[in-house]
Amino acid sequence: MAPPSSDMNNVVISSNIKLERLLSMKGGKGEASYANNSQAQAKHARSMLHLLKETLDGVQLNSPETPFVVADLGCSSGSNTIFIVNVIIDHITKRYQTSGDHSDLPEFSAFFADLPSNDFNTLFQLLPPLANQDVGTMEECLASTGHRPFFAAGVPGSFYRRLFPAKSVDVFYSAFSLHWLSQVPEIVVDSSSETYNKGKIFIHGAKKSTANAYRKQFQADLAGFLKMRSKEMKKGGSMFIALLGRTSEDPTDQGGAGLLFGTHFQDAWDDLVQEGLITSEKRDDFNIPVYAPSLQDFREVVEANGSFSIKKLEVFQGGSPLVVNRPDDAAEVGRALANSCRSVSGVLVDAHIGDKLGDELFLRVANRATKKAEEMLEKLQFFHIVASLSLK
Ligand SMILES: C[S@@+](CC[C@H](N)C(=O)[O-])C[C@H]1O[C@@H](n2cnc3c(N)ncnc32)[C@H](O)[C@@H]1O
Repeated sequence: MAPPSSDMNNVVISSNIKLERLLSMKGGKGEASYANNSQAQAKHARSMLHLLKETLDGVQLNSPETPFVVADLGCSSGSNTIFIVNVIIDHITKRYQTSGDHSDLPEFSAFFADLPSNDFNTLFQLLPPLANQDVGTMEECLASTGHRPFFAAGVPGSFYRRLFPAKSVDVFYSAFSLHWLSQVPEIVVDSSSETYNKGKIFIHGAKKSTANAYRKQFQADLAGFLKMRSKEMKKGGSMFIALLGRTSEDPTDQGGAGLLFGTHFQDAWDDLVQEGLITSEKRDDFNIPVYAPSLQDFREVVEANGSFSIKKLEVFQGGSPLVVNRPDDAAEVGRALANSCRSVSGVLVDAHIGDKLGDELFLRVANRATKKAEEMLEKLQFFHIVASLSLK
């Protein structure tokens, strides 16, 4: 699927339909691609594997006659999702093998779900070939190296809507995705509203009312997400969720997400305005549709939904999103911050101001971050909300 073209200038990131059609991490395998800038997410996911395995230990094992189904929601493009799906299937396989109840293994099916603009092509090219299940048992097939022991399919669509048939999925996994809102709340980009986020492109340090509009949007979105999953999950199924979170109760303090989008990125937008490259209105029309919730923001929605038991819900220190070879090289740190920022927000930026001004913007992000490299390395830390939920 081709990434959206950057001639979609003047796209106001406010309508959910437009955002759903547009949003993706940067595709391909280039310098600022997500595939090339997601080592930090890989590291954070690996540090949570013990929590994922605890969730998997709670999943009900059904008869091996029916396929065991795993879905990764917000899989993006790159190898992180493939690694995780392998971990899940490997763990469930071991559980079947040691359960004593079932001598055979089920067939495994993995669904890679993301918005339609996601670069599924790059992801599919990274998938190893399917193990040949005609030539032996599932055990033999799992033992064959360089092959995948699961059927794979891509699912295009928003996880805030239905994606799967009722009662069809055993395990849902979603990492570093649910902080993406379905839309920027309309009032935040309405210049006649008191909640207008004037002068800002994110809610870090914004007015309370603006941050609260984001909070409401996050909670409405999460409520929709849980409602859909409660229909799609098989009885006895479980869900593992990790998303950007914050430790402060105050939503105008967005923690690590605040530092990523609310400091050098914000200042670089201001540079473009001051240099006359864009108007201040153009900047103010752009808002990052991300919200890092507190534990309380998250818990309220799960409890109100009522379909899931909370097996685990905690804030987990993820570490820095910056992966650099030479931390004492300020220019490398600056570039890493700009690439990290561009890999997740670049598609939206290019759609709003075009890719030439996008280049200018991220050049300024890199220059500004270079000057504060030491501070960035020290202070830019992500916290994640980690939730393990099972269907009641
Ligand atoms: C930072 S990436 C996470 C990728 C991957 N899970 C990992 O661990 O590296 C976030 C992904 O969430 C996807 N996403 C955001 N909103 C979505 C939505 N409403 N429905 C489905 N996917 C969504 C984005 O397109 C993006 O690919």
